[in-house]
Amino acid sequence: MFLIKAGFELGLLCVLLVITTVAEAKTKITKKSFGLLDDGTPVEIYTLANGKIEAAIATYGGIVVSLRAPDRNGNMDDVVLGYDSLNQYVSNNPYFGALVGRYANRIAHGSFVLEGKTYSVPKNDGDNSLHGGARGFDKAVWKAKPIKDGIELSYVSRDGEQGYPGTLTATARYTLNDNELRIEYSATADKPTVVNLTNHSYFNLAGQGRGTILQHQLKITASRFTPVDSTLIPTGELRSVEGTAFDFRAPTPIGQRIDANEDQLHKGKGYDHNWVLDKVPGRLSEAAELYDPGTGRVLHVLTTEPGLQFYTGNFLDGTIIGKQGRRYAWRSGLCLETQHFPDSPNHPNFPSTELKAGKRYHSVTAFKFSVRSDPGGKQ
Ligand code: BGC
Repeated sequence: MFLIKAGFELGLLCVLLVITTVAEAKTKITKKSFGLLDDGTPVEIYTLANGKIEAAIATYGGIVVSLRAPDRNGNMDDVVLGYDSLNQYVSNNPYFGALVGRYANRIAHGSFVLEGKTYSVPKNDGDNSLHGGARGFDKAVWKAKPIKDGIELSYVSRDGEQGYPGTLTATARYTLNDNELRIEYSATADKPTVVNLTNHSYFNLAGQGRGTILQHQLKITASRFTPVDSTLIPTGELRSVEGTAFDFRAPTPIGQRIDANEDQLHKGKGYDHNWVLDKVPGRLSEAAELYDPGTGRVLHVLTTEPGLQFYTGNFLDGTIIGKQGRRYAWRSGLCLETQHFPDSPNHPNFPSTELKAGKRYHSVTAFKFSVRSDPGGKQ
């Protein structure tokens, strides 16, 4: 009887131990200095590693400075473009890896009306405002604290910062879950404002600085996109992708149609458009799947957002020398920016980006890695 009871208790103890191990964080978090800004503000890099993938995040701009994932032979490589030093991010960053806000993408003529009042935001892209203005969230130093399996960054954007109304308290939680990097954004404001947050990583699944992304195959879960004018502002139309170079409903090599003689491609100098995702708004579901046949790496992008900006690095011109001294050629990285549609504050027919005072903005995006063993095969 005693033995049975002891055996039972031992068994229970083992079960408890296993549960404790499962519940424990599996991600190792390390912190190092990334240097000082000119005004003396220290910037750190937090590295998250779980034995499957590894992500390094800077407190400056919430930048994903590296993201390492295995290829089909188990070789790890860094699949995002970026720089080795803080100084380069400060002086010349085309938003590599950055956390973009308060309003990702463009606002036409740097102006919008909210609750009857007109607001002006900086025009830093011709006549338009891009990615939150001249000093957007990508240039802010975020406060960091370790959380389970990752870090939480937070930033308080003051009332009137870059022209936006209301004090906005924003957080971004970067966590590793198995083979995915998950970013969870939240924000609250004390006055009505507009918010659109995203991450601007430039992916190259062959490895950063290893050629162009034209051979990558892309699938986007979208039957429509938002065509743009010559300044990349949406016209307001939600156009079917059917019969156009914008139809990525089946996996298609990016280079196959990027130079097709289509007006929208001329306007973007390639792909630089927002796709209207086929999904239930608010539910975390697949937006895109990217595959590099050369290395076998696959990236699934899941989001709760209604849109996806697919940008093929058309403004990279080969002058940037990135990490490990690698030169970034034209179209050597691509962005899959989960978002609300560009210029939504000026398009009442688009899903609203207004955040009311006291309400919570919440958005989740996951970048999930896997491999395909056969270059021609399915998995
Ligand atoms: C925009 C591009 C812009 C790029 C800046 C993208 O989100 O759609 O037009 O040039 O960001 O790096």
